[in-house]
Amino acid sequence: MNFKVPRGTQDILPSETWKWQQVEKIIDTACDVFRYKEIRTPIFEQTDLFQRLVGDTTDIVQKEMYTFTDKGDRSLTLRPEGTASVVRSFVENKMFGYADQPVKLYYTGPMFRYERQQAGRYRQFVQFGAEAIGSADPAIDAELITLAMDVYKRTGLKQLKLVINSLGDTECRSAHKEALVNHFTPHIAEFCSDCQSRLEKNPLRILDCKVDYENPLIASAPSLANYLNEESANYFSEVKKYLTEANIPFEVDPTLVRGLDYYNHTAFEIMSTSEGFGAITTLCGGGRYNGLAEEIGGPSAPGIGFAMSIERLLLALDAEGIALVNESELDVYIVTLGESARQPAFSILRRLRNENIRSDMDYMDRKMKAQMKSADRLQAKFVIIIGEDEVAEDVVQLKTLSNGEQEKIAMTDLLQLLKNNLA
Ligand code: HAM
Repeated sequence: MNFKVPRGTQDILPSETWKWQQVEKIIDTACDVFRYKEIRTPIFEQTDLFQRLVGDTTDIVQKEMYTFTDKGDRSLTLRPEGTASVVRSFVENKMFGYADQPVKLYYTGPMFRYERQQAGRYRQFVQFGAEAIGSADPAIDAELITLAMDVYKRTGLKQLKLVINSLGDTECRSAHKEALVNHFTPHIAEFCSDCQSRLEKNPLRILDCKVDYENPLIASAPSLANYLNEESANYFSEVKKYLTEANIPFEVDPTLVRGLDYYNHTAFEIMSTSEGFGAITTLCGGGRYNGLAEEIGGPSAPGIGFAMSIERLLLALDAEGIALVNESELDVYIVTLGESARQPAFSILRRLRNENIRSDMDYMDRKMKAQMKSADRLQAKFVIIIGEDEVAEDVVQLKTLSNGEQEKIAMTDLLQLLKNNLA
């Protein structure tokens, strides 16, 4: 039988994992600097949680969830995104009572959506997300956007575009909703069956329908920008001021509505503008979700966050021709000649590793030439060569692979010399 990875998933092999680790390091460092603490929530949650928080008229809930019934007859769902779980945890663990507010959290982990597979779109993908819950200060909106941009900047990405919009508060949303219903009702028969059922419940969703997105009635739909009340407009202009202050260029796009239901006020996406990037250019999406904690029985705790997939970040790096630096290269490879050198070599290896020197040796009983080839292929910085004569003299031959130079080193000097050279 021929087993393959399930469609839309991938193995990340050792030749690639170091890039993931590198990106994860960048994320951890940036979050540390911005004072966001890591949270780890379960991979699956009660199905209801996503239906309520992501919204049951969204594509994610209607079409893309991996839902199953467990042996106790509970309906569970593999998380399609992280915000619902973080807000659930915030409420369940009473984080609203923490002395320091807002509570600033981040996560990195696999998410699952049953989507059509294409470049940059997977059924299992890894999201890095950050959430700040408990503050309705426009400065925190700008902080989150800055964090996302900062992570990209630290990886070396340059060709980015930040697009922002305001979705307003409940009052503006209901006025806008009425206008959308009036706009679409006479023509609703031209739209897909999903949009027809969205018309009364949530006409905003029609604006990001993946089937009808080319229908001109979407482009001519009433813009939310014209329905923002004074408070929402002021909030949005404060966010823009903070972004300008932080030197983050942005474009305002009044058609940006996002694909999840929980947003209000600030919504944003970051796209790759690199020519080499595929059809899906959105690298990151996020926004404000005041009222989400209340939705599941928590107190009023306004929040904002974003998420980006590592897969798309790596694709964007490729498209810009940026190579991450592999910080985990081999420092020393030990080549042994003859049986009597094996145990002394093993003991050197032990001492090197005790000093955190990345080192390895041959375990395949190969000839010297094959061992030297391995050292080359593994891009070792140094090769230690040890045979019978060296053991007798208590020395090793130390070869620097970058220039081919080789010298005899007393065993007593070896460790210090390597430490100095690798520092
Ligand atoms: P989202 O826009 O659904 O938002 O996803 C955010 C990001 O996850 C996308 O911009 C993309 O990088 C990545 N992504 C989504 N689906 C896929 C896929 N099938 N394959 C690869 N990457 C994908 C959210 O998930 C919200 N929870 C973001 C948020 C956090 N809003 C507030 N806080």
